[in-house]
Amino acid sequence: MNEQTSVPNDLDSFWMPFTASRWFKANPRLIAKAKGIHYTTVDGHEVIDGTGGLWCCNAGHGVDRITKAIQDQAARLDFAHSFNQGHPIAFQAASRMVDLADGFDHVFFTNSGSEAVDTALKIALAYHQARGEGQRRILVGRAKAYHGINFGGLSVGGLGLNKGQFGTLYPSAQHMRHTDLPENRFSHGQPEHGAHLADDLQAICDAQGAHTIAAVIAEPVFGAGGVYPPPKGYLERLREICDANGILLIFDEVITGFGRLGTPFASQYFGVKPDMFTAAKGMTNATVPMGGVFTTAAVRDAFLQGPETMPDLFHGYTYSGHPLACAATIATMDVYRDEGIFENCAAMAPVWQDMLHQFDNAPGVHDVRNLGLMGAVHLEQKGAVGDAGRAAYEALWDKGLSVRPAGDSLAMSPPLTLTESEIGQIGDILASVLKP
Ligand SMILES: Cc1ncc(COP(=O)(O)O)c(C=O)c1O
Repeated sequence: MNEQTSVPNDLDSFWMPFTASRWFKANPRLIAKAKGIHYTTVDGHEVIDGTGGLWCCNAGHGVDRITKAIQDQAARLDFAHSFNQGHPIAFQAASRMVDLADGFDHVFFTNSGSEAVDTALKIALAYHQARGEGQRRILVGRAKAYHGINFGGLSVGGLGLNKGQFGTLYPSAQHMRHTDLPENRFSHGQPEHGAHLADDLQAICDAQGAHTIAAVIAEPVFGAGGVYPPPKGYLERLREICDANGILLIFDEVITGFGRLGTPFASQYFGVKPDMFTAAKGMTNATVPMGGVFTTAAVRDAFLQGPETMPDLFHGYTYSGHPLACAATIATMDVYRDEGIFENCAAMAPVWQDMLHQFDNAPGVHDVRNLGLMGAVHLEQKGAVGDAGRAAYEALWDKGLSVRPAGDSLAMSPPLTLTESEIGQIGDILASVLKP
């Protein structure tokens, strides 16, 4: 028996992440292999991967150059740590990272987006302390935000269901409102209304004392919360308020990084530069876990004031800069560059937008949102929140399209290799369920 192409056991030993295990086991969707934009299940059902893994397989699946680079690296140097010693490929990978990010000079490697977020929040706290402003302890996030599932990211996150099981988290977290306004429904790309919602940060400054606020973190485009592009002028206003009050601005680019909007990072797309940003996922095309925090020289240099033998930052992971992940990163960047993956995203974004907005008037559709090659069809609630989303997800899977239900929004973030005809196929499958 080939255990990878059949149901291997009673599926009970693996406690699955973010999964209703009894519901899953009633009708398990088990994927045996993947190539390009397609998954094939253990029973031979072919499904278009409409979510690019989980917003991470930007170059599609099974990219031979990346596979080969990982194999070669495993044979050459499988592992060496980076605590007061190093290995060349981590430095090479870091150079490739900062080359993509104008104005950012350093990257701190992690193994995931959640670790990148918690690392960025800790850097923000320690940065202020290093500069004699250790009273800056408040971290600001937003309602509907997803910043992973570690303690810091959950604290600044704004999805109550993810937090409710865990009680008090980081005690000094504050939240701004989200930017989901009824008047923005069915916007094409960035909505017109809502720049004023950035003033919530000023209100927090006024209520708490601006001198106590360390950082604000924002996804440039809300992702897991349901794909909400920022209102025009919103991110610019956030930057202004941070500058006026000595607050660090962190963008969480875990899903917008590596071309999702057609530029390497969303900050470049919007023309708003944060002080730090997180990335992960597309960093290795999801082949080996890898994330990172990008900082400006101004942020990192604040840590170089102590004795030369003292670590700059008392923080790091055994696998920070893992050789296999670094090999995967370098090969992934080569593929993105040589195959024009980001450029393809920019070219396909208008086609994607038109495809999605054909559902604006479909029965049971509450909203449609899009930017770059990300988007969501938001269904009207039927029964409990999430019931309509789950039903549509199941129907779409059966018809050959995988989407990600976020409540009643069907979130999509396909591989950035998508062609016009593949967008057409996705549109046809969506139509077969949404406009039968
Ligand atoms: C914006 C954002 N931040 C952080 C994370 C967490 O990343 P990971 O699942 O790799 O820990 C995610 C995951 O989707 C994300 O969308």
